[in-house]
Amino acid sequence: MSANSSSAKRRLLLASDRSDRSTELANILQSVGEVDTISTSDIPDTPASHISGIVVDINLRSAQSVQRVRDKLRTEAYRAMPRLFVLADALHHGSMQAWALGATDTISRPFDAQGILQRIRSAFPDTHGFDTTDRGKALNRGVAAAHEVMVKIFQKLPAGVPLTFSDIVAAENKILKAIKHSSLREWLTTVGCHHTDSYRHCLFVTGFAVAFAQHLGMREDDQRRLARAALLHDVGKAFVPVAILDKQDVLSEEETIEIRKHPRLGYDALAAQGSFPPEMLDVVLHHHEFLDGTGYPDGLRGDQISDIVRLTTIVDIYAALVEKRAYRLPYTHAKAFSIMEQMDGKLDQHLLQAFRPVTMGSY
Ligand SMILES: [Fe+2]
Ligand SMILES: [Fe+2]
Repeated sequence: MSANSSSAKRRLLLASDRSDRSTELANILQSVGEVDTISTSDIPDTPASHISGIVVDINLRSAQSVQRVRDKLRTEAYRAMPRLFVLADALHHGSMQAWALGATDTISRPFDAQGILQRIRSAFPDTHGFDTTDRGKALNRGVAAAHEVMVKIFQKLPAGVPLTFSDIVAAENKILKAIKHSSLREWLTTVGCHHTDSYRHCLFVTGFAVAFAQHLGMREDDQRRLARAALLHDVGKAFVPVAILDKQDVLSEEETIEIRKHPRLGYDALAAQGSFPPEMLDVVLHHHEFLDGTGYPDGLRGDQISDIVRLTTIVDIYAALVEKRAYRLPYTHAKAFSIMEQMDGKLDQHLLQAFRPVTMGSY
């Protein structure tokens, strides 16, 4: 089946082993692209070059279907292609199977059309941008790589799939290129429509951090260190109940206590994994510390707080202030800065002033 719409920018393969040929899903997907629905046995050996991603809607308990999909998707031709898997239900049955098949993201029945479309927009390159300019190409690749890290943090990690340092390193180059070749503003616009608050926040922080590093003329090595720190800083939120993370209102006292556990939870998870450098663990554990000792979890002061942590803290707070929240409008650049300038004694004011030009006009 193929459907056309004049605004379609993507071309998607929908591989299905369902008797209804996944009609409902195909209908949803058609608003973001052209959809070719095929059976698992018809997945081509080599996908056409304009295909931007594959959506797999199969019975993950059927050995035969899984085998067919595995054989195709493990080939070189599909290696870099984003793949969205449909899980049987909201309990995420089959999620381990899907991750093992290289899923870049998962969705489950009953379908939330808006959520699915936003995931497709962020994870699947827009062929329009892809085909026209190098800028668009770089931006799409960077956003897709960063999105993949978010999925690893917020979906795979709590499901028991370990996050490794090389998972993060693999995304860095693409993110650096995206922000260098397009602009911070374009990065923020693209990631700003992400459906999940936590993803969006981390992607904002990453954009600001990399733009800051590039503005300061840092060596590429240092730009990479900052990109890593930003991507990872809130990794511990993966272990905080989603009901608290996604709450569309101001948090209660108990909920605030829960959420304040995230630096320690993140640190413990990464430290146990063993491959992360001490500097990354430092950022994850200490990005909510303040120079005057009033931060958490360790109440560090002044020199106990490293440069990369100070920088991440500034970018993190700024991003939180200018992000959309359900319960308040985003602050303007000027307002966000004046709030942060009044946090005298807590933040490194020299760094804050150096950050100012990065954000002007970007949001
Ligand atoms: Fe945090
Ligand atoms: Fe944060």
